[in-house]
This record gives sequence, structure tokens and C-alpha cells, in this order.
Amino acid sequence: MSQSIHPSHDGSDTVFSEKYNAHYHSVFGAIEEAIHVFIAAGLFHYHKKGYTSLRIFEMGLGTGLNAFLSYLEANRFNIKIDYQAIESDPVDNKIYDAINYPEQLSRNEKPAFLKLHSSSWGNPHHFNENFTLTKYHNSIENQVIEGNLDLIFYDAFAPTCQAHLWEEPIHKKLYDLLNPGGALVTYCTKGTFRRMLESLGYKIEKLNGPAKKREMMRATKLK
Ligand SMILES: C[S@@+](CC[C@H](N)C(=O)[O-])C[C@H]1O[C@@H](n2cnc3c(N)ncnc32)[C@H](O)[C@@H]1O
Repeated sequence: MSQSIHPSHDGSDTVFSEKYNAHYHSVFGAIEEAIHVFIAAGLFHYHKKGYTSLRIFEMGLGTGLNAFLSYLEANRFNIKIDYQAIESDPVDNKIYDAINYPEQLSRNEKPAFLKLHSSSWGNPHHFNENFTLTKYHNSIENQVIEGNLDLIFYDAFAPTCQAHLWEEPIHKKLYDLLNPGGALVTYCTKGTFRRMLESLGYKIEKLNGPAKKREMMRATKLK
């Protein structure tokens, strides 16, 4: 099998991809990292600013962890989230059936977690009044993504693994899709990547990272 499940240090599972020779999350804590980088520094940041609706784009749906957390928080805070995600190599059903996120986060919501994966590609799915999901089974290089985004969860494999995903052509395209005042959040703070984002017009904030990672980044498109 090209993808296999492994426990991370906070008790939540992650996946290892043989194709990319990489884990999908920090091995020091998959859920901890996802909450820290994408939910706290992204979704909560805009909730605290008073946003009651958010258009989110995720690069790399993977296990669906970021999408599932967003769905749970949308319901908890009554925020309307329109969530688009792209994935070139979807996880197979043996992975999403077995991975322990519903058990760790909300057992009752396992049907919604499974629906994140089993719903069809390329069209919107209304989970409830708070959450709509559109998934693209494609490469980010080729996909037309709907704009007016408030938030980008940039969760590609690291630059050592897929350098081109951290270079200007893709990031210029994403920058143009963001609303002024919107942001891209990511775990990566590599200098060349940070400077390239700055040159596109982002304001960069280096924030404390999740377990064992010193830093993460939020890049905000100036108004
Ligand atoms: C770090 S993992 C994402 C983890 C995911 N966000 C999660 O919560 O499980 C990176 C993902 O990007 C996908 N990917 C790799 N190259 C891609 C590309 N060119 N376009 C779209 N997705 C890609 C991989 O298949 C993988 O699922």
C-alpha cells in the first residue's frame, strides 16, 4: 500500500506516503499541529476579528483533518464556511475508514468525516447551514479555483519534497484569489518562501509553532 497510518505523539494518527516519502502531519502531534497552524492562527484569527462567514481554500485535502476541524468549529461558533480543497492523490477508503480523527475529536460526527471523503469531486456539498465543501481531484498547477478567498490553508508537503509548490507561479495565482485582508497560513517559514511571499505583497508574521517546531507563518494580503 502506498499510504499507511502511524500514530503521532499526541495520540492522533498521521499517514505516511511512500510516493512522496513524507508524513502528512508533524509526527510530534497531527491534531495538535492542525489546530495550532490552521485553526488557531487561521480560522480563530478571523472569527476573533468578527468574520461570520469565511471562504477557505486548502492545498492538500489529504486525510481531511483540516476540513473536519473546520466543519466542527463552524458548527461550534455558528460560522458559515465555504470550503474548497484540492487533492491530486486522494487517500484510499481503508485509510479514512480507520484513521482515528472522529474518535479523537467527535465520535458523533464520524458520518460527516466519512462524507468529507466519499462525496463526489467537483461540485459543492452542503453538510448543513454552516458548512459547504467543494473538492477538486486535480493538481493545484492545473485547477481553476474560485476566488474571493478569506483564508488559504497551505498544507503541501515540505519544500525539500515538492519545491515547485513553494515557488512564485502557484503563489501568484493564490495571491490573486485572496480578498484584501485575507491570509495564507502554513507551517513552513523557509526564508526563500517567506521573501517570495513578501515580494507578492503579503505582510508576514512569524508565529510560535506547534510542538517542537519553533515557528509557523501567517501571510496577510494588505488591504
Ligand atoms: C501534507 S499532505 C496534506 C495533509 C492534509 N492537509 C491533512 O490534513 O491530512 C499534502 C497533500 O498534498 C497532496 N498533493 C501533492 N501534490 C499535489 C498537487 N500538485 N496538487 C494537489 N495536491 C497535491 C498530497 O497527495 C497530500 O495529500
